Amino acid sequence: MTSQILTTRMEAHPSDSNTIERYLDTGGYATLKQALTSSTPEDVVEQVKASNIRGRGGAGFPMGMKWGFLAASDPKYLVVNADESEPGTFKDRQLLERDPHQLVEGIAIASFALGVKRAFVYVRGEYSKPARRLQRAVDEAYEAGYLGDNIAGSEFSLDVSVHLGGGAYICGEETALLNSLEGRRGEPRLKPPFPAVEGLYARPTIVNNVESLSNVPWIVANGGHAYASIGPERSAGTRMFSLSGHVNKPGNYEIVMGMSWRDLIYGIGGGIRDGNELKTWIPGGASAPWLMPEHLDTAITIDGVAEYGTMLGSGAVVVMDETTDVVAAAHSIVRFFAHESCGQCTPCREGTKWLQDVLERIMDGTGRLEDIELLLDISDNISPGLRWPPAMTTICPLGPSATAPITSITKYFLDEVKARINQPEMADG
Ligand SMILES: Cc1cc2nc3c(=O)[nH]c(=O)nc-3n(C[C@H](O)[C@H](O)[C@H](O)COP(=O)(O)O)c2cc1C
Ligand code: SF4
Repeated sequence: MTSQILTTRMEAHPSDSNTIERYLDTGGYATLKQALTSSTPEDVVEQVKASNIRGRGGAGFPMGMKWGFLAASDPKYLVVNADESEPGTFKDRQLLERDPHQLVEGIAIASFALGVKRAFVYVRGEYSKPARRLQRAVDEAYEAGYLGDNIAGSEFSLDVSVHLGGGAYICGEETALLNSLEGRRGEPRLKPPFPAVEGLYARPTIVNNVESLSNVPWIVANGGHAYASIGPERSAGTRMFSLSGHVNKPGNYEIVMGMSWRDLIYGIGGGIRDGNELKTWIPGGASAPWLMPEHLDTAITIDGVAEYGTMLGSGAVVVMDETTDVVAAAHSIVRFFAHESCGQCTPCREGTKWLQDVLERIMDGTGRLEDIELLLDISDNISPGLRWPPAMTTICPLGPSATAPITSITKYFLDEVKARINQPEMADG
């Protein structure tokens, strides 16, 4: 398939794309006004359903279907997930910094469609500049009459609050996020009930990712079918990928889904640094099992990567070249999950730390060959059967995510792991 990369609004207007003046100059808020004056909320929901867009936060759940689950009773809420803590992911940051009004317009249109009068944006605690930019955009939108009472002269009113997050990865999980927003510990809740039935303050709540909602103005302006016609049927539309690691041109790229991995890594990403060979890559953030050079010519689609036992997750593609020590890479990811486990579930709280300890002794030269079986056994206790999508013994998917690097290195690099155990002197290298 030919490479297709879109010119994004941020590339077109790099310096002042965050201002309301620039947004209005480029047709901003026209779709909101149009929706408020000549559409019904049901029409908007139908457009989003017809677009086939799937959530960009990680799970890839169809957005229109989720909106359809929102319980009818008032009050209900829209919560925007701008926590963006999945290692390797930095796309929402760019959307918040460079195009915050697109998100504000998406929030307003979505709230109109869902019958929501109060929306919250939960921004990653460390994202001070993106949060400032977003807050300014919200203030400008209030002043211009696109938020607040009787928006654009209509009957529709909406208040939006920007909230700085608690600074923990787990607060990106939607129910932990809701707890944190309520001022409680950021710990995931058991589901069901799902947020669409019982979410923020036990009221019906839709949680959507920044990128998901940033697509709404385009979908409503151009029609759901127009969006659905971009890219493959079950992976419709464009998507932002944060490309990092050992590529020559790391960055955020908005691509049409269905492109091959080769086009992304070698075309858009400019290939591997120093002319090195590609060793492996993570296709969807630290939680995703890895892919190999034999997968380079497969298409980037949500279902396509599932066939190879992995996911597009948050759209973070981390490329590793031939010089990478895969045991060290796996350790770095496992250590992250062990540190970020909220501790509610024993398999996650204990298992992630055990995985970290075993990898550490392999790395410091005191590992044993039986450690490979031990790593898999611990992983199997966290995620029984080690299958894809993962089975869960835990409240949320964080625990199972920690097994992704273990299954990846034992499946694709078993000889290298054994060599690491048999040649402890490598530990100093
Ligand atoms: C441990 C964990 C961390 C997550 N972090 C994020 C995050 O930072 N941003 C995000 O949008 N979704 C994150 N998610 C996914 C959310 O739970 C939820 O599926 C998403 O916000 C829904 O939005 P969407 O349907 O628009 O994708 C995370 C999930 C888990 C299990
Ligand atoms: S899986 Fe881990 S992070 Fe998720 S709720 Fe259980 S202990 Fe907390």
